[in-house]
Amino acid sequence: MPSVMPIFGTRPEAIKMAPIVIALQQSDDFDCVVTVTGQHREMLDQVNDLFGIVPDHDLNILQQRQSLSAIMTRTIDGLDKLFTINKPDAVIVQGDTTTSTAGAIAAFYHGIPVVHVEAGLRSGDLFSPFPEEANRKITSQIASLHLAPTSTSKANLLAEGIAEEDIVVSGNTVIDALLTTVDKNVPFSDSRLEELAASGRRILLVTTHRRENQGDAMRGVGRALARIAENEPDLLVVLPVHKNPAVREAVLPAIEDKANVIVTEPLAYGEFTRMLSLAHVVLTDSGGVQEEAPSLGKPVLVMRENTERPEAVFAGTVALIGTDEERIVKEVDRLLNQPDAFDAMANAVNPYGDGRAAARTVAAVAELLGVGNRIADFSS
Ligand code: UD1
Ligand code: UDP
Repeated sequence: MPSVMPIFGTRPEAIKMAPIVIALQQSDDFDCVVTVTGQHREMLDQVNDLFGIVPDHDLNILQQRQSLSAIMTRTIDGLDKLFTINKPDAVIVQGDTTTSTAGAIAAFYHGIPVVHVEAGLRSGDLFSPFPEEANRKITSQIASLHLAPTSTSKANLLAEGIAEEDIVVSGNTVIDALLTTVDKNVPFSDSRLEELAASGRRILLVTTHRRENQGDAMRGVGRALARIAENEPDLLVVLPVHKNPAVREAVLPAIEDKANVIVTEPLAYGEFTRMLSLAHVVLTDSGGVQEEAPSLGKPVLVMRENTERPEAVFAGTVALIGTDEERIVKEVDRLLNQPDAFDAMANAVNPYGDGRAAARTVAAVAELLGVGNRIADFSS
């Protein structure tokens, strides 16, 4: 039986890999060996606990305020040693984190085929998002099988010379994860959030973490949140804040004395999806949140200048607004106070998947390893 090794290390990879791990474990065709790098710790373990995933190998690489080079070298070194004693028939990496690209490089050096999930996303700017745009381009060069979430991402790969027979349009597994989680109505572990849910007040849900936004831009985000909270006393601003100390130092000082701003630790995925479904408007620089919120009909304001996820922008539910303080205040105000503007963006659309991305991924891996056949591509 072929052995397949999913490798992941951060929260979004864990969420998006979980449906694949579960499908591999349920299949009789594979031996599934789960390896985590531990690029994230609490935020990774939170997801694995929710989905009942117990890693077979944990490289435990996290360092506080880690550098990109440290993530890369510690991952490659750990996998290099692991592959000499446990060499899988294929590895699966997800997305554009440094864990993902380091995992692909380490496998490639050992002659192990690389399966790339969420392949072909491109912003067109090598420095934004940084370093993710470079990471995913590097992985595309060395992968044997590319799971493009949409036809747009497939077209990006074809334009870079990737062979069509090596690409499957799968949909994004984040929609699989969302659909199995969002309706569970899990209780919030922070009692302030249960009170908020019962209050019926409008919620602005905010997340921020992008490396290129840290520093001045993120301090501006903090000031914008403070002004929004002052302008809208009935609104509740909810910020589950990333573990990164650089994020906390930038965004928190401006909002810590605001009564209608609730700052929480990162929410477990079930709690976060429940909060997403309660939110009126979402303000974020996250990739995954941009994909999930449109499914729930939530308008999303993205604090970035560009996106590798244009599908929901075309569908009208996501708007790119950058990180300028004035612009953030203005755009949030528009959605809160102009019903036409809100209605125009509050449509449930599913450009990123239909909940069957993991099944398509596992079928494509089976074909790669000679134990099965692909199933029909996702079309939105
Ligand atoms: C990483 C990914 C980014 C992804 C994001 C998802 C890279 C280069 N970046 O960025 O693509 O969008 O994850 O959140 O791969 N920390 C903890 N505990 C945790 C997680 C983080 O303490 O569970 C702290 C540590 O001090 C760590 C810092 O956060 O050094 C930054 O983590 P890191 O993984 O380097 O960067 P992210 O901004 O999380
Ligand atoms: N998320 C979560 N808890 C939180 C914030 C986000 O579970 O407190 C989930 C969210 O639903 C999405 C993913 O984390 O699936 C996005 O992760 P993140 O924004 O850290 O990374 P990105 O997607 O930008 O790479």
